[in-house]
Amino acid sequence: MRRRITLITGANGEVGHGLIRQLRAQPNPPDIVVLDLRSLDADVLPLVDQSIVGDILDVDLLENLSSEYDIDTIYHLAALLSTHSEFRPEAAHRVNVRGTLNLLHMAIDQAEWRGKPVTFIFPSSVAVYGMPNLTAKASAPPVSEDSYLNPITMYGCNKLYCEHLGRYYAQHYRQLAANPTPSGIDFRSVRFPGLISATTMPAGGTSDFAPEMLHHAADGKPYACFVRPDTTMPFMAMPDAIRALIELAQAPADALTRSVYNLTAFSLSAEQVAERVRAAFPHADITFAPTPGRQNIVDSWPANLDDSAARRDWGWMPEYDADRAFNDYLVPTIRAKYAHKTA
Ligand code: SER
Repeated sequence: MRRRITLITGANGEVGHGLIRQLRAQPNPPDIVVLDLRSLDADVLPLVDQSIVGDILDVDLLENLSSEYDIDTIYHLAALLSTHSEFRPEAAHRVNVRGTLNLLHMAIDQAEWRGKPVTFIFPSSVAVYGMPNLTAKASAPPVSEDSYLNPITMYGCNKLYCEHLGRYYAQHYRQLAANPTPSGIDFRSVRFPGLISATTMPAGGTSDFAPEMLHHAADGKPYACFVRPDTTMPFMAMPDAIRALIELAQAPADALTRSVYNLTAFSLSAEQVAERVRAAFPHADITFAPTPGRQNIVDSWPANLDDSAARRDWGWMPEYDADRAFNDYLVPTIRAKYAHKTA
């Protein structure tokens, strides 16, 4: 008998760390196997059953994994974020698209072997949207899933296409076969807003100005914000993001009316983030030095997302609004994290 596991790709990123911890804290935690280009950080390593250092582009590695384990659920987190992807668009396409295709293929293979569906959880992003201009951004009501899908970043294009790939493999794969049978992929995706973690810094994103502002202030370092003060986008505290992934994976299939759901918790302008950071860290040295390229990217993202479909179908509800996110989670945790340096 092959061991039943949950597979997490990109597990060494900031979503991965939180996901490992929260899965482990479940009443009946799954066995967890993780795959990342870098070896898993020591603080979460004891929480997983196997940590594999490897590349999602390595199909031999994925075949081996597939033959060794009974993979019940895949959280496919590995990706190059939006700023990194602009500097290396073809590499981003390889990792974000080819890598996802490899994982989808592995899931089909698994489903066939086990005779049961494989739950495939795919974090997508607010970056799939492209607002045409600032006037449209300012006047649009909270944006729902099927409008403004004109991303201006490689990352946004990659995520949007992979949402379609997931839906295609789940619903239409081999539709011209003599006897089409379901592929066995149960593909479920959420479009995250900008995520803010109290414990880790993101790498290579364009919503990073918010977490960077906070972490720099707590660390006693000056920060020059790369977008204008009025730049507004939706955000979410990391614990909500992790909980959303797990709740979506556990939602009954017949409750889901779509394969991709918007998620949001609160929208703030960069100035409003700065005000909250200054209130918590009165010595914070925050200035604004917008860089046109990254400014343009955040300007293309909606100010507000409509996540009513997720609320209706699988009971999604953020626990952290802006006040709770800053007062109960971000500020106290970040303060403790940097306490030894500023004491
Ligand atoms: N936080 C991501 C980024 O900035 C958006 O999904 O790339």
